[in-house]
Amino acid sequence: MEKLVIEGGKPLSGAISIHGAKNAALPILAASIMAEGTVKIENVPDLSDIGVMLGILRSLGCKVELAGDTVIVNTNAVHQYHIPESLMSQMRSSIFLMGPLLARLGKVELYQPGGCAIGERKIDLHLKGLAALGVVIEDNGSRIVCTAKELVGADIVLDYPSVGATENIMMAAAMARGKTTLTNAAREPEIQDLQNFLNAMGARIIGAGTDTITIEGVPELVPCTYRIIPDRIVAGTIMIAAAVTRGSVTLNGVCPAHLTSAIHVLKRAGVQITIDGDIMYVCGSGRLKAVERIVTSPYPSFPTDLQSQIMVLLSLADGVSIVKETVFEGRFKHVDELSRMGADIRVDLNSAFIRGVPRLYGATVEATDLRAGAALVIAGLTAQGTTVIEQIHHIDRGYDRIELMLRSLGANILRTAPVVME
Ligand code: EPZ
Repeated sequence: MEKLVIEGGKPLSGAISIHGAKNAALPILAASIMAEGTVKIENVPDLSDIGVMLGILRSLGCKVELAGDTVIVNTNAVHQYHIPESLMSQMRSSIFLMGPLLARLGKVELYQPGGCAIGERKIDLHLKGLAALGVVIEDNGSRIVCTAKELVGADIVLDYPSVGATENIMMAAAMARGKTTLTNAAREPEIQDLQNFLNAMGARIIGAGTDTITIEGVPELVPCTYRIIPDRIVAGTIMIAAAVTRGSVTLNGVCPAHLTSAIHVLKRAGVQITIDGDIMYVCGSGRLKAVERIVTSPYPSFPTDLQSQIMVLLSLADGVSIVKETVFEGRFKHVDELSRMGADIRVDLNSAFIRGVPRLYGATVEATDLRAGAALVIAGLTAQGTTVIEQIHHIDRGYDRIELMLRSLGANILRTAPVVME
């Protein structure tokens, strides 16, 4: 199996462009099947999760071609409403196909996506929202069959601002008869990107980015060409890596407004950040300071997807910090691995108490999930000695060749080839 090998201690320096957002590309690729014809989606990152989504689109009958970072999807032959369990099990984001398939074919058959390393990941809010739109749901606990003779607009209030549920309901409601109002909707930038994509195909949606989204259903959507927003979590990951290595990095093609809470925390920790349009300059020359309390919660608060990464910075800051994870119940699996590198972290329920230490030490560690793996990379970049990271397929789900990104900034990191047993 492939591994990442990192010699720590080199400050990152130079400039990097941030690739397209995984969490915008996945729902937008799913939504492409809602229009008949050829849809072009630009700035799509080359990630394993994207590859799985393209495989699902092909299994539904789409013709999918790649031209650089542009994905060209011909949806004319979409006929299949059954999502293979093998593909579902590879990526829970397959559930983004529910809304689009119900809108296009009036039916979808899939399997409970199940939990993952960071939590149970239920989909009850998705199903409740779709049922409110007239979808009949048969769920035997593993296999789910949804049918809708007609999707009808409704007033829906989400019990929790779920990103995925907001997106699935938006997509189904876009082609429902009548008006849908979605209250307590998630406000993430990726939802705004999905709204803009759907509207470019002729949908009539307003309010994404606020907690109330209004959708006027239309009878059909038409193909379009659309460019995905940059990945705010990849940008945040690079910013934290620059800070902990005492580096100086320029990030090009970013949306600073998507990172307001992360920028605020990094500045409180003593990181210098300058913004010039879609460019951010990050410098970690000063001492890192503890941040008394960081609470992850839905956008625009501090993102759960940067929680593992910021914990590395806090492990090297002067003083004690507290990180409270309120979005996922199991998102502290990186703590044991960081502790093996010398971090001083104590977990109590969903809070982590981090006491800064002078340095971390290289070790052989294991990525347990996507963002935990990214945190271990950051730790390896600053650790004294060599760090070997195993199970790096988790990292490849959300970072396009992370070792090449970091080598372009001067890091001493390489990916070992898988050992082929004779
Ligand atoms: C999206 O996941 C992202 N994934 C996640 O990014 C991100 O961490 C998460 O939003 C929160 O921002 C994609 O967009 C592909 P949720 P999603 O529905 O939609 C509970 C990454 O690292 N919940 O907002 O699954 C759920 O269990 C990934 O890039 C229900 O209880 O997130 C969780 O505790 C990780 N019932 C919380 O809500 C439901 O029906 C947040 O889930 C749905 C969710």
